[in-house]
Amino acid sequence: MDLKISAAASLKGKIAVPGDKSISHRAVILGAMAEGDTTVIDFLPAADCLSTLKCIRALGVEVEELSSTKLVIHGVGVSGFKEPGDVLDVGNSGTTLRVLTGVLAGQGFPSVLTGDESVRRRPMNRVIVPLLEMGAEIRGSENGTRAPISILGRPLRGISYTTPIPSAQVKTALLLAGLLAKGKTTVTEEFQSRDHTERMLKFMGADISVEGTTCAISGGRTLRGVEIYVPGDISSAAFLIAGALTVPESEVLIEGVGVNPTRTGVLDVLEEMGGRLKRVNFSVKSGEPRSDILVKGSKLSGTVIGGEKIPKLIDELPVLAVVATQAQGTTVVSGAQELRVKETDRISAICTELGKLGARIEEREDGFIIEGPTVLRGTVCDSHGDHRMAMALAIAGLVATGTTVIRGAECMDVSFPGFEKVLRSLIG
Ligand code: S3P
Repeated sequence: MDLKISAAASLKGKIAVPGDKSISHRAVILGAMAEGDTTVIDFLPAADCLSTLKCIRALGVEVEELSSTKLVIHGVGVSGFKEPGDVLDVGNSGTTLRVLTGVLAGQGFPSVLTGDESVRRRPMNRVIVPLLEMGAEIRGSENGTRAPISILGRPLRGISYTTPIPSAQVKTALLLAGLLAKGKTTVTEEFQSRDHTERMLKFMGADISVEGTTCAISGGRTLRGVEIYVPGDISSAAFLIAGALTVPESEVLIEGVGVNPTRTGVLDVLEEMGGRLKRVNFSVKSGEPRSDILVKGSKLSGTVIGGEKIPKLIDELPVLAVVATQAQGTTVVSGAQELRVKETDRISAICTELGKLGARIEEREDGFIIEGPTVLRGTVCDSHGDHRMAMALAIAGLVATGTTVIRGAECMDVSFPGFEKVLRSLIG
């Protein structure tokens, strides 16, 4: 599908964004591992989370869909899954693939996980290596580094592990394997990645402790079914926030956005750049903070993004790059080599596509440098099959002259169904 976006004079209005993708995946998986029912309210019914739902059902878990966003999961307990009748297909979802690898490693049956072409290119050794240390038996293609992967299902033992790269997917896989293992499992990261799993496990009664960037979980405990209210996804809100900041006369209120501090790096950086952002109406529900975010068109300046900030805004770098093209001065992004192994090589995709629009951008192995401001010129660009690239380019289209056409934009449904409708409702 082609998405056509024309230059906008302003973005105005009050909206809510769909539920958080990371929390929706976890609510389904942890709900399935609990004793009793878990009700998920404001679940994200996007392709990635529906892949998790399909896999969990294939593992013998009953899920009632009261509506597309309200689910009741009939938990089977931490090791109560059933052997699936077929290969489990995670579609485009790296989170489903990596997290389920941890859960299935300690079940009493064999299973095979695979996914689409992009997911089968994503590194799996980062999760397989520590699981093997826990006693798992897993084989992956390309020398154990890629899906499809085959898991035998074995008793696991707790380990202490320091991850070479901060990754919430790896940490989650190890914590859930740790719940099934004998003894204690400890995971340490160089910089803290998103902590939704730790919060949800605590909320469901697990014996988990967190100190700095280390978390530890005891095996052999049960989880209890709970009600999980999913906040709006800050990674989806980020596109609209970026649009409202860069289109001059804008004023947008986004309601009920998750503001977990391990996810708000994008807000911190945009504020540093001079963005007029206000968080109002703060509350905490099911262990996760949320607030409304008021955004106004702003005069922005370039900034430096690297180090421990990176895991807190990794998914927002494509749209931050768009913002940087409109900011006065230089923006430098470094330490973001993880972008090369996301849904596509996002460093290369950002540089290629923003380059087509006339941005002054220089590619680096671990990031990029942007000189701003530039007047972007609408043209035909490509999503690279990556939802966040498609939506970032749509935001670039709002500030570019003429019309921007984004080829292959249907992938936006992976995380933000209805993005185009929400965006058009704001355009004045
Ligand atoms: C996610 C973790 C991050 C993020 C991804 C979702 C999660 O990936 O980029 O979109 O839900 O745990 P990594 O764990 O690879 O950093």
